[in-house]
Amino acid sequence: MRTVTIGILGSGTVGQDVLKLIQRREHIFTDLGVRIEVAGVLVRDVNKPRDVPPGTRVTDRADFLQECGVVIECMGGIERPLELLRPYLRSGRAVITANKALLAERWDDLREHALDGRLYYEASVMAGTPVIGPMSTVLRASTFTRLQAVLNGTCNYVLGQMEAGQSYADALAQAQALGYAEDPPTLDVGGFDTAHKLTVLARFSADGNFPYSAVQINGIEDVTLADIEDARAQGERIKLVAQLEKDNGSWRATVAPQRLPLTHALCTAGASRNAMIYEGEECGSLIFAGGGAGGMVTASAMVGDLLDYLLGFPGHVPLH
Ligand code: NAP
Ligand code: HSE
Repeated sequence: MRTVTIGILGSGTVGQDVLKLIQRREHIFTDLGVRIEVAGVLVRDVNKPRDVPPGTRVTDRADFLQECGVVIECMGGIERPLELLRPYLRSGRAVITANKALLAERWDDLREHALDGRLYYEASVMAGTPVIGPMSTVLRASTFTRLQAVLNGTCNYVLGQMEAGQSYADALAQAQALGYAEDPPTLDVGGFDTAHKLTVLARFSADGNFPYSAVQINGIEDVTLADIEDARAQGERIKLVAQLEKDNGSWRATVAPQRLPLTHALCTAGASRNAMIYEGEECGSLIFAGGGAGGMVTASAMVGDLLDYLLGFPGHVPLH
């Protein structure tokens, strides 16, 4: 049995469930001949009550990172995680992250490590619904033409609750309480989180260096109950839609609310689910749908990435 020492950055909605899932799936690691040792869990406030296994070292000091072979980053933000991960990646060790903001906005720092297969980030887009795995492997054989997707659980929740007559503000407060929203939630409702995710997807399908700044972004803040009612009267539903397609020979990436017929695949996937329609010349039109926000569904992708790492699979390699 070999021991693999891991460190976890963040113990909030996602981080706590990552630890729980690692514990729940212990026999899978044992079958692989691996014993997982958690060197430490980094947080801001060590006095906050947390649901972590007894004996877990919860600390506001990052020195335990030196002991780790793999780091699982679920703290969010950009500058602080990058500061912690940069030296770590440079030393050739692996990082698993759910942080699409970091991936989208600091690609210059991360790309070479992703190309080397040391960065695992299935959880960063559509959480536990696998899209990055297929896009970084088998789908590359096909010529990508277009994608259209609903990628934000908070916006889905808010728009769904507004359809049931709730106010925008109450629905957003509930999404925050459920642990779906970013900090701050403007990232969700302003469309920025969806744009971060679209940027990550574009690097597997359009251009390995696709810049976040190229995405045109509109959020759902101005959608009113009257807009939703008007759409419903026409047999339509409002969704925050991410789209990537060719326009006069260049890739055009947009995030904006759209009225879609109830029969549209992004609607039939379910009011609360993330969904993506991926179109390629040879693979045809594919539909992926599932949970896109929440602690355990995100943890399932992160622990899946850990298993891939232990099995010797590389991380998610963007287009060269
Ligand atoms: P969260 O509940 O706010 O948890 C963040 C954790 O990180 C907290 O434990 C916090 O410590 C810690 N932290 C934050 N900044 C820190 C700092 N500067 N130094 C030390 N510790 C720090 O966030 P979350 O919802 O779990 O999301 C975490 C990441 O996963 C984000 O990148 C998010 O975009 C991504 N993600 C989330 C979901 C979801 O559904 N929630 C789904 C997919 C991806 P304290 O507890 O002491 O405050
Ligand atoms: N805040 C994000 C969402 C979390 O609502 O989709 C999952 O990435």
